[in-house]
Amino acid sequence: MKNKKIIIANWKIDLDIKESKRLSVQVLKYLKKSNKKRKLAKIDIVLCPGFTSLSAISKIFKSKVFKKVILGAQDCFWEDKGDFTGEISPIRLKQLGCKYVILGHSERRQNLAETDDMVHKKIKTALKSGLIPIICIGETLDERRRGLKDYVILNQASKALAGISLKPKQKIVVAYEPVWVIGSGRAITPEEAEYMNKVIYQRMIDLFPLSIVQNNIRVIYGGSVDSSNVKSFVDLQTINGVLVGSASLKAKEFVKMCEAIC
Ligand code: PGA
Repeated sequence: MKNKKIIIANWKIDLDIKESKRLSVQVLKYLKKSNKKRKLAKIDIVLCPGFTSLSAISKIFKSKVFKKVILGAQDCFWEDKGDFTGEISPIRLKQLGCKYVILGHSERRQNLAETDDMVHKKIKTALKSGLIPIICIGETLDERRRGLKDYVILNQASKALAGISLKPKQKIVVAYEPVWVIGSGRAITPEEAEYMNKVIYQRMIDLFPLSIVQNNIRVIYGGSVDSSNVKSFVDLQTINGVLVGSASLKAKEFVKMCEAIC
């Protein structure tokens, strides 16, 4: 909870390489021009482009002028190397300049049948490779209607993290993302998100020593966040940041969100 605020842009697979390069350069330009530049330097701003654009964007980020923005990936595999055709090695992502990796996004759980066990294995390997996992958990609308939201969240958090211990330098981000809200354009209320984040914190305290929870774990909210509602989420004590999808595809809008939370 004492951690820096974080804002993560998830570009999914919406942009080609040229568009991704253009968007990242625009984001960097608006950040540089912002009159909140100093404050912006105190939050973590992470861009997660599609895999095919990572290399090009990594080169842009490596140029010294723009070292404030951090590169992240949208997934990785649970092995570093070997016979795993088509998979993405976490160690290669690290070599490419990625610091963060989104894991267990609901779109992967739904479309690719990614299980809690797979997410758990990916978290372990990502940490070993020096990446910071952004672990996505969230209930479906049906689960919420059946009164199972707390149960689902606690279960996903436990299965993702049980048996994993964090070294003092290792960090994780847990993103609460109600599945039914993602891409809907209608976020849940900040109070609801705060309640769920408290539930997640409680589980983190069961799983890790308190000092690790306070210093190495950030719990954030994701799902239809934009510049009009972002502040109401991050102003709450238990919400350390946001994971943004569609609203992160417009440079001005995204930088507005960064400014709103710093
Ligand atoms: P959204 O996506 O902001 O478009 O709802 C969030 C996400 O997929 O992480």
